[in-house]
Amino acid sequence: MTDDVLDIPFADAFAFDPSPTWARLREEAPAVRVRTLAGAVVWLVTRYDDVKLVLADPRFSRAGVVAEGAPRVGVSRPLPGTLPTTDPPEHTRLRKLVSGAFSHRRIERTRPWVRELCEELADDVVDGADLRRVYALPLPLQVICTLLGVPYGDRERFREWVELAYSMEMSEQSRVEAAMASLVAYMGELVAAKRREARSDDLLDELCATPLTHDELVAFALNLLVAGHETSANQITGFVATLLRDRSAWERLVADPSLVPSAVEELMRFTRLSDVGQLRVALEDVPVAGVVIRAGEGVMASIGSANRDPRAFPHPDRLDLGRTPNPHLALGVGPHFCLGAQLARIELREALTVLLERFPGLRAARPVEELAWRRVLVSGLAELPVRV
Ligand code: HEM
Repeated sequence: MTDDVLDIPFADAFAFDPSPTWARLREEAPAVRVRTLAGAVVWLVTRYDDVKLVLADPRFSRAGVVAEGAPRVGVSRPLPGTLPTTDPPEHTRLRKLVSGAFSHRRIERTRPWVRELCEELADDVVDGADLRRVYALPLPLQVICTLLGVPYGDRERFREWVELAYSMEMSEQSRVEAAMASLVAYMGELVAAKRREARSDDLLDELCATPLTHDELVAFALNLLVAGHETSANQITGFVATLLRDRSAWERLVADPSLVPSAVEELMRFTRLSDVGQLRVALEDVPVAGVVIRAGEGVMASIGSANRDPRAFPHPDRLDLGRTPNPHLALGVGPHFCLGAQLARIELREALTVLLERFPGLRAARPVEELAWRRVLVSGLAELPVRV
C-alpha cells in the first residue's frame, strides 16, 4: 500500500464526516505518497505524532515551498517572504515585528465589539436565511477588515479574488493568476496610501511603522486578510451544522452556555476544514512514520486526520463538548502556530454564544448531510439554511 500514489484531494474530501481514507492510512500506511492537483508527488502523514513532528520540526521548511522548482499543491502559488513561507531566523524576525499587534491584551480588547457585531448580524438570521452568508462570513470579514484598516466596502471586489485564489480547477490557471495579481495590486495601493497618510488608527498603520519592506507588508496584509476570515467563516458554519445535526448537542449548550469554551475546542478538533494541510519541504533526510523523507521531497501533514487519531483522543469520532484534555492541532503547533488563534477563539465563542442566546430553537432547514460543500482548498459547507 505504501507504494501506491493516491490523488489528493481524496474522492471523499467534500463531505461532513472525516474521510474513511484517513483511518485506513493511519493504520496501514501512516506515510504515503500522494499526487497533488498540480501533479507533484509528495508525502502525506496522517498520525497525530507524525503530523505534530512535520508541523513543528525545523527540518521541514515552509520557505522551500516557494523556492524555484519546488513541488506545487494547487493552482495558486503562495506569496514568498511572509510568515507562512519563511523559516527561522527570517520567520522569527517577521513574527517579532507583528507580535505587538497581536498581543493578548490588544486582541482581548476586540471582544466587546466582536460581541456587538454578532448581535447586529444576528438580526439577519431569519427563517430560511443562509447562516453562512448572513452571519458566519460577514462576522470575521468585518472583524479583520476593521482591525487591518481595509475598507469593508471593497469586499465584493476582493472576495471574488480570494475565492479564485483557493480554486482547485487547474484549468482556471490564468484566471487564478489574474486574481492573485489583482489582490497584490489592491493591497499595494492601500499600503502606499497608508504610508502617505502616516496615521496610527489600525494594524496596517502600525505595520507601516515597522521595518517591513513594501513587498513584505503587502504579502503580510494579504495573508492576514485571507487567513483572517476564510477559516473562521468555514468554522462558524461547520460548528453550527455539527451541533444542529445532533440536536442534543445544541440543546446541551443552550442549557449550559458555560460549556462554550470547551465546546469550541472540541468543535475545532471535530469539524472538517482542509484535508491535507500546508506543504513543507524536507531540508535533510528525516525518518518519519517508517519511511525516510529525503531532502528536497515535499510532505503534507493532515491536521484533520491527526485530530481524529485514536492514539491521541479516546473515542475520537464522538463529539464530547466537555473533552479535557483536548490537545487538538486545529490551530497548528510550533513556530507557525496560528497567529490569529486568540482572535479566532473570540470570534468562535462570541458567534456561538449569541446564536445560542437568541435562537435556542435553531434548526437546519435541510438535513446537513445533503448540503453542498465548497470545492476549494480550505473547504467547508457552501451554505447552511436555517429555521429560527
Ligand atoms: C478558526 C479559525 C482559524 C483556524 C482553524 C486557523 C488555522 C491555522 C493553522 C492550522 C495554521 C498553521 C498552519 C501550518 O503550520 O502549516 C495557521 C497559521 C496562521 N494563521 Fe490561522 N487559523 C484561524 C484563524 C486565523 C485568523 C482569524 C487569523 C488572522 C487574524 C489567522 C492568521 C494566521 C497566520 C498569519 C498564520 C501563519 C503563522 C505563521 O506562519 O507563523 N488565522 N492558522
